[in-house]
This record gives sequence, structure tokens and C-alpha cells, in this order.
Amino acid sequence: MQRFVNKSVVNFLADSITAFNLSAVRSVATYTEKSKNIFKREDKYGAHNYAPIQVALSKGKGIYLWDVEGNKYYDFLSAYSAVNQGHCHPKILKALTDQAEVLTLTSRAFYNNVLGEYEQYITQMFGYDKVLPMNTGVEGGETACKLARKWAYTVKKVPDNKAKIVFAEGNFWGRTLGAVSSSTDPDCYTGFGPFMPGFPIVPFNDVEALEKEFKDPNCAAFMVEPIQGEAGVNVPSDGYLKKIRELCDKYNVLWIADEVQTGLCRTGKMLAVDHENVKPDILVLGKALSGGVLPVAAVLANDEVMLTIKPGEHGSTFGGNPLACKVAIAALEVLVEEKLAENAEKLGKILRSELSQLPKDKVKLVRGKGLLNAIIIQKEYNAMDVCLKLRDNGLLAKPTHGDIIRFAPPLTMNEKELRQCISIIKSTIEAF
Ligand SMILES: Cc1ncc(COP(=O)(O)O)c(C=O)c1O
Repeated sequence: MQRFVNKSVVNFLADSITAFNLSAVRSVATYTEKSKNIFKREDKYGAHNYAPIQVALSKGKGIYLWDVEGNKYYDFLSAYSAVNQGHCHPKILKALTDQAEVLTLTSRAFYNNVLGEYEQYITQMFGYDKVLPMNTGVEGGETACKLARKWAYTVKKVPDNKAKIVFAEGNFWGRTLGAVSSSTDPDCYTGFGPFMPGFPIVPFNDVEALEKEFKDPNCAAFMVEPIQGEAGVNVPSDGYLKKIRELCDKYNVLWIADEVQTGLCRTGKMLAVDHENVKPDILVLGKALSGGVLPVAAVLANDEVMLTIKPGEHGSTFGGNPLACKVAIAALEVLVEEKLAENAEKLGKILRSELSQLPKDKVKLVRGKGLLNAIIIQKEYNAMDVCLKLRDNGLLAKPTHGDIIRFAPPLTMNEKELRQCISIIKSTIEAF
């Protein structure tokens, strides 16, 4: 299948993107054996649990990615919001390399001189008594669920093995058996049963359904993303997060906020819950906690919850390793020093306002907060085809769930660069 670049797009790019190597603007048909061999080798030796877009990346810097052919692209996915600080941020890399030369891993069998520094930094930053460090986002979610169950049995006095954790329809928190047990997406759970019991589901953004579940005295927690990322950037009504807080207080239920994707400035505030000035009982962070350098996740809670787990009851060989701790401190500092929340808020407004001018017969809807956004393509068009054209025109994005394309560039982008990206998106879609 050949995909040729629309001539007007090329002309536009030639005129307006002086910083851009025009060789970026080429059809997939021009990929050489170099790229094709990379696609083939991954397909042959790797499990087929992903279906990557055909582009073989070899370099990243700031908001840009390059492929092995030398083509340059705007990154509009940011590794699913893990690279909020931009690719290979010098401050984060320095923290990584400095610490890598001294001490990388001790395990938690011993104390080390970095973990406490990080624990103090992150707990003070987010206002919790304690942090439990893990590696991936899904481990953070599992940790939050274990904490909620332990708290339910030891503090709320739920009878043994009866604790429930409520989830919202459309949730996504990873790929473990725990995560797929709460999933409502058949692709995620089909063929992986039997599933974990005690995970009732309520519709997202429905406080009445939530209250019904909370009336069950065995209800331990409600775990929810403040904006559902993977489900297609579902933004709830204003006041939803406040109402969750109120109901959790009323029924003595813990609120677990999964901010793995929405957190760390992505939605225009340090945390998405900050938009409504509310504080969850358990906060799960990951992804951009390392700026995309290492898997680093964190679960934050106050003592009443955190101290229910005792030595030997939970852990991870790599969780809280000195390398990850130094990287995480640097990654958090960059978010604050470079005012990335403010930038995401400002650029997000421009992006949504510009994209909502796209013809409605092609783009049904534009939604999002900060720089976590999505467009919904009309049924006659295929979201993957649009993403392939965007790639050919020098911008990398990926569909999430059929007709939805997520737009989430690194937060270090400036307005001029964003406007160039908007022009690429507009020209690409208008050419369909
Ligand atoms: C909201 C949310 N939670 C958890 C996860 C899982 O993170 P990880 O892939 O690092 O396990 C993701 C991943 O996309 C996510 O979007």
C-alpha cells in the first residue's frame, strides 16, 4: 500500500518549517532496507503483543524523534505521556549518569544514602506522609489495591476476603491479572480468566452509581483515572472529582487516583486532581516520574493507610533503587523549573481551539485538558490511516480505540512549534 504525501502539505512544509529537514516528508514507500529489516527482525523474534506503526526510531531529543533513515518527526505521543520533559532531557540524563557511576542497586535489604532523600522530596512535594516506590505504573496500581485491601481489613474492619475495590468502566491501569480483572475492554481481558473477584464496575462520571456501591460496608476503595487516557481521553464533568472526595469521606472509602498518565503536568496542573483542588487518599504516579528514562512508579499515602503493610508483605527488587531515585528527583525538578504545567495549560487551549476548526465531516470531536487531547474521526475515515499520513508528514501519533487519536506531545514544546504541528495535522486531515 503506497501512501503519497499530499502536495499542498509538502508546499506548506517547505514554506513554513524551515527548521525541519524536508526529507522528513516522505512516503513509507521510500523506506529503505534499513527500516524494513528492523520491522522484520522485531516481528520475527519479538512477541506480537503490539502492532507498532512502521517507523524505526533511533534518536530522540526534546520534542523530536528521528528514524534510522534520518527523517525527523514531531513526537505527539511522548511514549504514552512518559516523556513529558522531552526526550533525553540533559538534567535528567546527568542525574542518571552521575548516579550510575556510583551506585545503581542495593535492593531494599539494606539502607542506602539516596532513597530517603527521594522519599522526603516526593512526599513533601505532594503532601503525603509516606511513599512506596515501585517501577512500572501497573505495579503502582497493584500496590494501591493491596494497600486498600489491607486498610479495609485492619482499619475499616471488613470481614476477611470480602473487601471490594470499585473501578470505572473504560479504566486502564496496565496488563497484570489484577488490571485485566477490572477491565471492561474485551481485548484486555479475553482469554485471561479466571479473574480477581471483588472488583465491581460503575460507569465513569456517574456519581449515583458510585454511591450505590459505597453503601456496601465491604467497599474498600474506588480506583479511578481523573481523565481516562487509554479509553480515549474521557474528561469527566466538572465537579466529578470533588464529588468522589465527598462520597469517599461520607462512606469511609479510600479514593485511589491513578495519575500515571494524567499526573506530572500533563493536563495543565501538577496533578489532574488539582483542577478541582481535591486530594486522593492514595496517589499513583509513574511514566513521567523518570522523564521516560527508567521505569519509576510511586504510591503515596498517609500513615493510616501506608503503615498497614508491614515488612515482608510487599516489595520489589528494583523499587526505590538509587538510580531511579536520583532520576525521579531530577524529573520532578524539571517539571517545576520549566513550568511545564503552565505551558501544557496554555498550549492545550490553543491546540483544542485550532483543531475544533477542522471540518466536522472529518473530525467529530476534539477533547482533552492541558496537553492530553484526542480527536474523534468520523466513521468513513480510518484513524490508523490518518496516523500513517501524519507520520508521512512528519508527526507521530497513534490511535487509541478505533476512531480516536490521542495528541500528547512533550510538554517542553513552545507555541511556534505547536502551531507547526497544528498545521501538519490540519493539512493532513483536510487532504483526506
Ligand atoms: C492510567 C494508567 N495507569 C497505569 C498504566 C500502566 O503503566 P505501565 O505501563 O508503566 O505499567 C497506564 C499505562 O498506560 C496508564 O495509562
